[in-house]
Amino acid sequence: MVELVPSILSADFAHLADEIAAAERGGGTVIHVDVMDGHFVPNMTIGPPVVASLRKATRLPLDCHLMIDNPNEYIAAFAEAGANWVSVHYEACTHLHRSLEMILHHGMKPGVVLNPATRVDLIVEILPMVHHVLIMSVNPGFGGQEFISFSLGKIRRLAELRRELGLAFKIEVDGGVAHDTVAQVVQSGAELLVAGNAVFGAGRPEHDARELLAAARRAAGEPIEADPSAVRA
Ligand code: DX5
Ligand code: ZN
Repeated sequence: MVELVPSILSADFAHLADEIAAAERGGGTVIHVDVMDGHFVPNMTIGPPVVASLRKATRLPLDCHLMIDNPNEYIAAFAEAGANWVSVHYEACTHLHRSLEMILHHGMKPGVVLNPATRVDLIVEILPMVHHVLIMSVNPGFGGQEFISFSLGKIRRLAELRRELGLAFKIEVDGGVAHDTVAQVVQSGAELLVAGNAVFGAGRPEHDARELLAAARRAAGEPIEADPSAVRA
């Protein structure tokens, strides 16, 4: 089943609870939280205190994408704040296995993230211990960037590895997922679709989340649930 994972990076930070509620009404089932430190990526966003507030604002799982150096130093703080899923970058972890163990040890679901230029085959050994693999389809740091098309080959390769190894981790894709790219992303084998600009960018998150999820479900050959609250012009 495909799932829509709205990324709050493109939401109005002064009204996060309302933005998240709207994206949930539109069909979002996991909330993606982009954590940036101004070192690993050239931008800064939010940290554990905001995650703690979000925890009170929604019952959906909080998927924290750590774009930070030395992530091990902050894993306990994210657990304490109420994060459910935590993913760390392959490129930021000298001891990736240790980072994933720490996330597990704190009762959260571990994920590993690959930048566009990082090969999928580098993480074969740790695949049995992850809940999800996040394929970046833009260089991390900003919302609203253009989808990098060679990411589709990486999604296909990862789906092939998952089959070969008999594993069940989820494949998540982040960056430039929108109406014009979502079908190919789904058909390549991804099921967790992160979308920031495509959900929040136009200021109508409920409507745009619903439309994007419907497009994803069509591409996956899944039924599009009739939603009685949907009002079409
Ligand atoms: C980028 C972030 C993304 C971002 C995606 O570094 O990791 O989660 O919100 O934004 P869009 O969907 O606008 O490309
Ligand atoms: Zn992200």
